[in-house]
Formats: sequence, C-alpha cells, structure tokens
Amino acid sequence: MCGIIGFTGSQNAAPILLDGLSRMEYRGYDSAGIAVLNRGAIEVEKAQGRLTNLLEKTDNGKRPQGFAGIGHTRWATHGAPNDINSHPHVSGDGRFAIVHNGIIENYAAIKEELTAKGHVFVSETDTEVAAHLIEECYTGDFKAAVMKAVSRLEGAYAFGIICSDFPGTVFAVRQAAPLIVGLGFGENYFASDVTALVSYTKNVIYLDDGEFAEVRTDGVTIYDSIGRPVEKPVSKIAWSIEAAEKGGYEHFMLKEIVEQPAAVKEAIAPRIKGGEIVLDDFDLTEEKLRNINKIVITACGSAYHAGCCGRYAIEKLTRIPVEVKLASEFRYEDPIVDEHTLMIIVSQSGETADTKAALEEGKRLGAEILAIVNVVGSSIARLADHVLYEWAGPEIAVATTKGFTTQLVLLYLFALYAAKKLDRVDDFEYARLLGEICSLPKRIQNAIDLNMVSIPRLAEKYHDRGSMFFIGRNTDYAVALEGSLKMKEISYIHAEAYAAGELKHGTIALIEEGTPVVAVCCNEDLLEKTASNILEVKARGAEVLALSFRENRDIIAHADDVMFVPKTETFFSEAVAVIPLQLLAYYVAKANGCDIDKPRNLAKSVTVE
Ligand code: G6P
Repeated sequence: MCGIIGFTGSQNAAPILLDGLSRMEYRGYDSAGIAVLNRGAIEVEKAQGRLTNLLEKTDNGKRPQGFAGIGHTRWATHGAPNDINSHPHVSGDGRFAIVHNGIIENYAAIKEELTAKGHVFVSETDTEVAAHLIEECYTGDFKAAVMKAVSRLEGAYAFGIICSDFPGTVFAVRQAAPLIVGLGFGENYFASDVTALVSYTKNVIYLDDGEFAEVRTDGVTIYDSIGRPVEKPVSKIAWSIEAAEKGGYEHFMLKEIVEQPAAVKEAIAPRIKGGEIVLDDFDLTEEKLRNINKIVITACGSAYHAGCCGRYAIEKLTRIPVEVKLASEFRYEDPIVDEHTLMIIVSQSGETADTKAALEEGKRLGAEILAIVNVVGSSIARLADHVLYEWAGPEIAVATTKGFTTQLVLLYLFALYAAKKLDRVDDFEYARLLGEICSLPKRIQNAIDLNMVSIPRLAEKYHDRGSMFFIGRNTDYAVALEGSLKMKEISYIHAEAYAAGELKHGTIALIEEGTPVVAVCCNEDLLEKTASNILEVKARGAEVLALSFRENRDIIAHADDVMFVPKTETFFSEAVAVIPLQLLAYYVAKANGCDIDKPRNLAKSVTVE
C-alpha cells in the first residue's frame, strides 16, 4: 500500500530510487515519482501508471541528477491516480518534497487552516497538506519543522522528506506504517520494505512508531517522538537479492508456487528436534495453555482463509473452541475476548492495518497474542507476545501462495504442540501426526508435479467462463474459500466458494448449463457427502472439475475433469489441496492475459483500514 524510499550518498540517487521502487511495486502501482536534490534545488519527476512510465520519463534514472532523493510508488487513496496526485508533493515555496505511505486523517481541517493563511494546493491528496504544514513550521531547522508538523497529524503514516537547504539529508518518519533504515558505507537509505534495500545493504534498523530518522551521507541518527536521540539495534537481513528476483520464471507467482515445498520445509524442519516440536521463539507454557478456554484467529484475505483451514486441526487436536474472525470486523463487534483467550494473528506482511488494529484490540482486552508472520521485524511481529515466523523468504506476487501454505503449516504445528502440552494426544498419535506434518513438503512437491502439465490444458477449457463455483465440506470448504479468492483476484472471474451442503439452500439456482464447479474432495470422511452434491449440480448442467486423490474412484467417475493430489491426513490436507487451485487460478489468469503479479486495484500490503 504505497512504497517509499530515500537515499543519500555520493552517487546519483535516481537509479537507486528507481531500482528500489521496482522491488516495491507490489505495494502499489497506480503511479510513481521521485524527487532529487540538485544543486540546492528540488527536481521532481512523476508519471501515472506503472513504473516503466517513470523509467521512460527519466531516461532510466539518468535524470534528474543529484546525490540525495526520495521516491514513491502509489496505491491511490486520496484523489485519482493521475500525474498531479502522484507523489512526491512539494511545499508551496518549493523548499520541501515529501513522499507518504498511509493516511492523514485530519488533513481536511489542516488544509482549510493553511488555505486561510494563503497556501495554494494543487492536488487532492492528504500528503500535499503535510508538505505545506512543514513549510509553515520551518524557521531554518529541518528536524524541528518536521517534528512540529508531525505532532499535528493524526492517522497512519510513513514519510520521506527532503529540504533544499539540507542537500545531504533525507528525513524519515514512522507512525503506524512500516519503515526501515538501511546502513551503507558512505551512503544510507530508508524504505518501506527490506526488498528495496537488500541489493545495497543487509544492515537495517527497524523504526518504531513515533520515531524519526535523520539519514545523512555520513551516518544516521534516530530520534524518539520528542526529539531525543535513541540507540537502536542493527539487524541483518537473512536472505539475498536472488530470493526477491524472478530467477527465470515468467511471473513471481509461479516462482512462489514452485518454491512452496522448500518454504514449507524451512518453516517446519528447524522446529523439530529429537522427534519433538520445539518452538524456541515462543513461551506459551503448559500453564498458560491450560488457562486458555478459547482461541480467536484474526486475519484478512488469504491469511483469514489460513485461519479457516487451521481451525479444524486446532479444534480436533486440542478440543479448545476456535473462532475465526475477519480482522476488519473484529474491532467493531464488541468482541468477547479476555485473559483466557489466545488470539492468533496471521499476516504475511505483518503490516495489514485491519489485522494490526485487531491485535491491539485483543491486547487491550487482555488476550495472549500469538502472531504468525512472514516479514521479520514487522509491526505485528513486534506487538505480539509470541511470534512464529513463516521463514518463507520474500513474497513479491500480490496474490499470496507460499505465504499461505507456510501460515497453514505453522497452525498445524501449533495445534499438535498445544495438544501434546495439554495431554490431548498420546505419544503414538503425536509421532504419527508429526510424521504427517513432516511429509507435507514432499506431498506439496508431488501435488505440483501432478498438475503442472495438466492444469494449463484445463485452464484453456475453463478460462472464458464468466462465473465459477468452488464447493467442499469442512477442511475442503476452507480450501475452496482460498481457491475462489485466488481465481477472483488474479483472473477477474467471478468465483464463489460455498459449503457443498449449503448450495441447495439458494445458490444452486445459479447453476446452469456449463457453469464450472470446482469440487474439492480431499476430506476422506466426507467424500460420499460431497459426491452427492456433485451429482446435484451435474443434474442441473454444471461441468464439474474435481480435486481429489487417485484412490477416490467414485468422484473421478462423476467429474468431467479431475486435478489430483496425494492422499494426506485430513487435518493437514489443505496445504496440499490448495496447490492445484493456485495453479488453476494462475493458468486461467494467464490464458486471459491478466497482469498476474500486479492484479488491478489490489496491493500486497494493505496499510489503510
Ligand atoms: C491483501 C493481499 C492478500 C492478503 C491480505 C492479507 O489483501 O492482496 O493476498 O492475503 O492482504 O495480507 P497479510 O499480509 O496480512 O497476510
């Protein structure tokens, strides 16, 4: 949801800013812009649309020239995505340029006040108000002006700011939006995401809310919200730039689908020691677990679906009731959560605003908070009491794949770990289930191999249908939810997931000749039930694309087409069953010529409510 970057050093800033933006384009891609300090003046270039337009306009970063600057890639909130509303925004006197990720909630009142003082605004954005406010607060001290202006702002923001009076300095501010400072040799940086910096430095500082960073060529000073310098730890980025590149694949999404066996292995293997699950990064003791009478899983999008899937394993194994809540709804529900509740917050980015707000609400109500997060050092990871990192490496495609499966396996591991601590599983069953979890990377690989060749052909057959249904029961329904979201978000085909038994209560009215129905049949206990639902839709003209294992002769006989997966323990089957659904969405989107890695209207990290 908008990416910002800043650089200062002794080489031209523009190519570095543009390179960083290209790695953060998944955060927003309506428009992009850079501002560079050039001999005491600020030069701005911005362009509507994808970053390639800005690259063309700047002759691949040959212009504007200068050694310090800021950049932005936008997911529009205030004002249409056109050249005028694109960032950076400049103050009326041309002295300051600013880039912004987030929303300034009280911008309208400040705009009115500044307009009365004679400030003239050219854009519809909230960001331009901040540029003018800094100008209004300026009396020759850059830091003081930024701090004074920021103290007036309400909302969530990360800013990057340059001032023409301070040629070697870029300022960064963080309030409830991600921001990382990168430390180089004779040059320094900041960005919304480490992916923008990893080809320049592996040494980073994660800013906290309310902190300011004065980033200079010769060093960086971090200040707290009242301007006192603070010592911050320097962290090392654990992965290399290759992990954030396509490596020969046509799309990041395909690369990330194929990476799933390795990613899932990386999430599981280091946590198994001597036949036991060892969660080092986690101190939910037996006593704490016994104190819990309810688990609430809260998340958005695919992470919410991971919760819907994981719920079955947790309830089955621990017998603790689990509720799965959409984070955007949770806060407004007057939730029944207290000190006997464990909240599991699931988020690939660790920055999703709704999810973070749900975490804060849970904390306020006294719940114990466990976060399942991919991005190390992200806000959600830092706010939680316990963190399980996904260790999936950078995920660049907007539509998540390896982020989702690694969330799932951590939920499975947690379920078995808690069941053991609570004596709800005997040693034999524990060892068997742990073996099942450890076999998931192999089964996921198998699911990829079984479908890589056949699914492109199925996609050719189904890609031009206006609407699709995904059905399943229990664990299969939870996977169907994720499969239909994948289809919608990247192929733009209307796709609905229904609990298979619920169809007959209304939705079956929409089934007509040729309507594709993807039937997930991987839950061994419910195969016959789903088979009846397949027959019901077939009797009304549906074309059924079943997802099951080879041993399931019955469903194979009823379906028009079948996607195969290896048979897997029911409560862990979602991590395998989702693979063909990801591939189906990918190849349908490809057949429809969609922009797979950057679907329309979306952004990967949604830091606004
Ligand atoms: C966005 C993305 C989804 C993602 C959701 C939650 O909507 O497009 O793919 O599942 O955010 O993201 P998170 O980073 O919290 O898992």
